[in-house]
Amino acid sequence: MTIYNFSAGPAVLPKKVLEKAQAEFLNYNHSGMSVMELSHRSKEFDDIIQDAEALLRELMQIPDNYKVLFLQGGASTQFSMLPLNLAKGKKAYYVVAGSWGKKAYTEAVKLSQTIDFEPVLLATSEDSNFDHIPAIPEDGIDPEAAYVHVTTNNTIEGTSLYDLPDTKGVPIVADMSSNILAVNYNVSDFGMIYAGAQKNIGPAGVTIVIIREDLLNNEPALSSMLDYRIQADNHSLYNTPPTFGIYMAKLVFEHVKELGGVAQMEKVNRQKSGLLYDFIDQSDFYSSPVKQATDRSVANIPFVTPNTDLDKAFNQAADEAGFKNIKGHRSVGGMRASLYNAFPIEGVEALLAFMKDFEEEHQ
Ligand SMILES: Cc1ncc(COP(=O)(O)O)c(C=O)c1O
Repeated sequence: MTIYNFSAGPAVLPKKVLEKAQAEFLNYNHSGMSVMELSHRSKEFDDIIQDAEALLRELMQIPDNYKVLFLQGGASTQFSMLPLNLAKGKKAYYVVAGSWGKKAYTEAVKLSQTIDFEPVLLATSEDSNFDHIPAIPEDGIDPEAAYVHVTTNNTIEGTSLYDLPDTKGVPIVADMSSNILAVNYNVSDFGMIYAGAQKNIGPAGVTIVIIREDLLNNEPALSSMLDYRIQADNHSLYNTPPTFGIYMAKLVFEHVKELGGVAQMEKVNRQKSGLLYDFIDQSDFYSSPVKQATDRSVANIPFVTPNTDLDKAFNQAADEAGFKNIKGHRSVGGMRASLYNAFPIEGVEALLAFMKDFEEEHQ
């Protein structure tokens, strides 16, 4: 049975990358050691992390005045690290268009009880279960604010922010965890971008931060590990970094480059997700909670059947048929197909055939 992995993260990785890692697993580059056994101060690992950074810079066309950091703690640590470093004494705006954006805002509010800054909820679509991207009141943005935080892809709800607000020079900070390298954004439109690796980049354990140099903190943040300036000055080697994860990320970056880069990824992702959206839209049986086509994610596509019993039956039958991890997030139910870069179009075609059969059987 062919297995298709629809997991929202950790997610499917390119088979070629896994095979390359397997081939090099015991003896990396004639070193006689596995990548996992290399010192993070060794020449071999230094080449790996430098290549990884150079490739990411090339893929995302990251300007020279941005630092690229390979950190730990997941995107969730960034929810606190960001205000800790950037927000001192200022306002920090949050656009909350999904559960993860809400977590980022909630963490900021919590931190503001200890650190002097003012988190402000700029826009939210929570009252309609985050089924759309809310309008962002650009006129309400104080030009002296530290940043405007957005989530470019709402992994759980299946919406995306494609058109960035005009923030009148206030840096936009983006949680890009679920569509980094999947949708082509212009890095210079952002002050900072962060992303957990476990969707489009590699295994869990690496967090990418891309930050404009002038936003690096001048005063020490609470702890060295949480200090962007220290991490940048030490080229992400302040402590022992997640070496194997960074190596896997490097292999994925090479692979994405070989396939034609981020623009090509986006094109294919639009094709893949388009097949599924078109099928859902013509069906009387399945429906998408995201009605506005312009808000729809190309990475995470939630859908439901006419009732929760049928959703349950669908999830069980899909799992038995090899469509793994297609169950919707526990907070929203239904189904969710995550079609990240490494997810093959054949998997979407097979899913559509399965959905058709299920519909006929349960109509
Ligand atoms: C958009 C978004 N932000 C943040 C997170 C949390 O990431 P982590 O588990 O790396 O902390 C996720 C996880 O799925 C996510 O999708």
